[in-house]
Amino acid sequence: MKKKIIIGNLKMNLISPMERDKYLENLGKEFSGKRFDKSEVVFCPPFIHMEKFKAKLNNAKVGAQDTFWERSGSYTGEISSAMLKNIGCEFVIIGHSERRKYFEETDEIVNSKCRSVLKEDLNPIICVGESAEEREAGKIKDIITSQVEGALNEVDISNAEKIVIAYEPIWSVGTDSVPISDEILEVKILIKKILSKKYGSDLTEKIRVIYGGSVKASTAKELCIDPEMDGALVGRESLNPKEFLELAEIINNG
Ligand code: PGA
Repeated sequence: MKKKIIIGNLKMNLISPMERDKYLENLGKEFSGKRFDKSEVVFCPPFIHMEKFKAKLNNAKVGAQDTFWERSGSYTGEISSAMLKNIGCEFVIIGHSERRKYFEETDEIVNSKCRSVLKEDLNPIICVGESAEEREAGKIKDIITSQVEGALNEVDISNAEKIVIAYEPIWSVGTDSVPISDEILEVKILIKKILSKKYGSDLTEKIRVIYGGSVKASTAKELCIDPEMDGALVGRESLNPKEFLELAEIINNG
């Protein structure tokens, strides 16, 4: 059975070892007695905390917020997918709207990163989504199509179950503005159509399509369950272990 996936993107938070340890302690307490047998729960902390998360978390997996496409060499400041794999990381977020915005990541860059992640046998979480202006101009379909096709350009997806596509409308990330369930469902259907055309329906069936943007326990049903998404990518609420696991339970049981 295809499992759902609930991902916490901790972004550039937990700014000291003390803060991180406190977070992990709270998380451990909140996890006790909870079971997520129909889902994978993944935490994506900043790189410097990943090994500690890996050591402390028994009931969740660890992912990265970004990667670099080369394996090793003179690339000051970068972290490669091979390095991530070697410390036990399993998932990598690619093309998050904040990276596209602040670091000018293009679909070509997202594509290179996606290849490096799959080459290391890791799971890419590919983020796509339109801005408010693009939405108003009626361009959702064009944007999503070019982002999905761009990210997967000439990518061999024989391991289709590894791929996660996160639909994150940019105007919903960090804002509390959200689309209605039907709008999310429409984009999910669009993404499935793009994938089906490229890879056929059997492989497409294995690819998980999730929603991200202002997901909380109170919005998880309308944003993730009603549009039949395969899970959620969660920003702010992942900083609050109690709230995060509550929404994860709703999605797991939904
Ligand atoms: P948010 O962020 O949940 O704070 O809206 C989502 C994301 O950036 O993935």
